Amino acid sequence: MEDERITSAEVQNPTEEDEELSLRPQTLRQYIGQAQIKHELEVYIAAAKNRKEALDHVLLYGPPGLGKTTLAMVIANEMDVQIRTTSGPAIEKPGDLVALLNELQPGDILFIDEIHRLPKVVEEMLYSAMEDFFVDIVVGQGPTAHPIHFPLPPFTLIGATTRAGLLSAPLRDRFGIVEHMNYYNEEELADIVRRSAGIFNSHIDDQGAHEIASRSRGTPRISNRLLKRVRDFAEVENGGQIDRELVAKSLKLLQVDNRGLDRTDKKVLMTMIELYGGGPVGISTIAANIGEEPDTISEMYEPYLLQIGFLTRTPRGRVVTERAYEHLGLIDQYMNK
Ligand code: ADE
Repeated sequence: MEDERITSAEVQNPTEEDEELSLRPQTLRQYIGQAQIKHELEVYIAAAKNRKEALDHVLLYGPPGLGKTTLAMVIANEMDVQIRTTSGPAIEKPGDLVALLNELQPGDILFIDEIHRLPKVVEEMLYSAMEDFFVDIVVGQGPTAHPIHFPLPPFTLIGATTRAGLLSAPLRDRFGIVEHMNYYNEEELADIVRRSAGIFNSHIDDQGAHEIASRSRGTPRISNRLLKRVRDFAEVENGGQIDRELVAKSLKLLQVDNRGLDRTDKKVLMTMIELYGGGPVGISTIAANIGEEPDTISEMYEPYLLQIGFLTRTPRGRVVTERAYEHLGLIDQYMNK
């Protein structure tokens, strides 16, 4: 298994998280892409500020690496409020949630990443917190146990999840603003690459920016990661200049192809083609053949292959598309018989 897969959309280590911070846009104006969401948020933020109220609770969902945390921070900045960030698995018991809520000032934001992983007892406590700004906590034990009604300041919960389907209906229904984040197009990613290169003081031309963008699987986190690697090659081998040729050469060494596919993506496709005639074939069968967990395939590889139309899902399993055969140069061998 490859933990440090350069084309993975997951954050790979704490250093990367710190580096991302320096690249993060601070305002909606600086935030590139997700135009529809930005436009809606502009309106909701302006309206809430006008009324001097907390923004309605916001649920952001979509694949990893698209900027959900970044957007939450931008919202806090635009609302002129503090943001506290945490994640579902980090809030283990109701007391942890109370401690977080207790620190909020009126209008502040509590950001919970991976909100689908909140323990059930904590989630249930959120219902009254979100709806009516109070929690009931039980203090004492046995016969002396009694509930305390604990009022909260009006606050905004921003929840982020890669799996909206895993949220319970009562929790989902308490978010007034629900936004689905989509993969970025090449033009947007090229803009992000140029912006990040500017922050790094790197020299990149438009073709170089597009070359990185087209290999980034629709994901800014991957664009920025590829840019960092390519910048190393540029500084050592090209006088610091990043152009299309340099990008192509560097990413060939890193085994990222011109659609952003890596060795494992290709192994998935080739296994399906060579052993199962291109499908339909089930995820667990594919996983067993290439020595990965089924969840790893369905969360880290399949979404992008579906997104670019290299795989389709059918009731009987996954099928490799003609477009994928074409990309792999296998049309003559397998399809023109
Ligand atoms: N860096 C990462 N994501 C970004 C975005 N959406 N806009 C600007 N810079 C970014």
